[in-house]
Amino acid sequence: MPPTKTILLTGGAGFIGSNFVRLALRTRPDLRLINLDALTYSGNLENLAGVDTDARYSFHHGDINDAPLVQRLVNEADAVVHMAAESHVDRSIMDSRPFFQANVMGTQCLLDAVRRRKGGPVRFVYVSTDEVYGSLPLNRPELKFHEGLPLVANSPYAASKAAGDLLCRAYHETFHMDIVTTRCSNNFGPFQFPEKVIPLFVTNLLENKKVPLYGDGLNVRDWLHVEDHCEAVLAVLDRGRPGEVYNIGGDNERSNLELTRSILSAMGKGEEMIQPVADRPGHDRRYAIDASKIARELGWKPTRSSWPAALESTVRWYVDNDSWWRRVKSGAYREYYARQYASRAAV
Ligand code: NAD
Ligand code: TYD
Repeated sequence: MPPTKTILLTGGAGFIGSNFVRLALRTRPDLRLINLDALTYSGNLENLAGVDTDARYSFHHGDINDAPLVQRLVNEADAVVHMAAESHVDRSIMDSRPFFQANVMGTQCLLDAVRRRKGGPVRFVYVSTDEVYGSLPLNRPELKFHEGLPLVANSPYAASKAAGDLLCRAYHETFHMDIVTTRCSNNFGPFQFPEKVIPLFVTNLLENKKVPLYGDGLNVRDWLHVEDHCEAVLAVLDRGRPGEVYNIGGDNERSNLELTRSILSAMGKGEEMIQPVADRPGHDRRYAIDASKIARELGWKPTRSSWPAALESTVRWYVDNDSWWRRVKSGAYREYYARQYASRAAV
């Protein structure tokens, strides 16, 4: 079947974007993908090795704030899936400016291009995060994030993503554009930049280094395999209702201490490898997702996230892809890591 639809994907050289490219090329012969990525520190063309030669895929190195480039690519597309972002909370605490440049101004630049698209606007899927909802208490396990909650972002990262959510809402209301927003929980899987907790801890252990656990280790995250997230984004792209928000989550809540113990056990390491360190400022206590709307309306359910098998196969991926993460962990990353942990005292 020849492709019938061209998707402009932003941020396709990052963790989720590259997994989206692989999944879409493998499972969706009807789609052609244009990947627009600025190749910031977390964008890496090695994440696309082996699939970048597919005739249905093309890459454009550029910034989502480059209005003429964005307009040209939007004009060629039948839909936009917008994932490009500055994505790491700790970096946003050190310096929030790049987050507002990419996540707010970049989103606005894309929305304007879609509004002005030759031939009329097309569907725009904004990939947001559950972090826009703020934090849930540990002592109320029955509470979960649902789509009707107000946005109460607590980190500069979350604030920049929430601004993107509000822009999408505003463009839908004001210009009647076909915009759908997704809010997903924490992802895990291959090709995740090793500043995020799972690949950081796994690769530290492979280097025989300790793992820096923030605060009391009791903060809770809801973990979802990246391919489950990408399938949900495809379902929203195909069948989501214009103007709606869809939560995406794995119903897989784990404290950071539990997660750390599972990683240690998968790698045959002991608890002496845990290094408690000072907490992250403004550290959200608990994220938990009510994903019943996307299940009910679009029939999406996670199929790859069951624990501990999914975590163990992710650990194995990093063990087997030594040269990928060693290259990523060298160079500019080293400076970030040194700065980050110089400011985070052991406790
Ligand atoms: P990532 O940091 O691995 O990748 C981000 C990509 O965006 C990189 O390839 C980078 O080069 C590109 N990029 C950044 N600024 C750009 C710009 N100005 N122009 C063009 N490209 C630019 O992030 P990720 O974890 O893959 O996250 C992707 C998206 O999913 C983000 O929007 C993030 O907010 C959202 N999200 C992530 C998670 C998660 O657990 N990782 C969960 C929910 C939502
Ligand atoms: P992270 O992977 O940065 O994702 P997010 O902040 O978007 O949830 O962190 C996940 C959890 O792990 C979060 O509660 C902070 C914690 N964490 C540590 O304990 N140590 C670390 O070195 C990092 C990076 C995170």
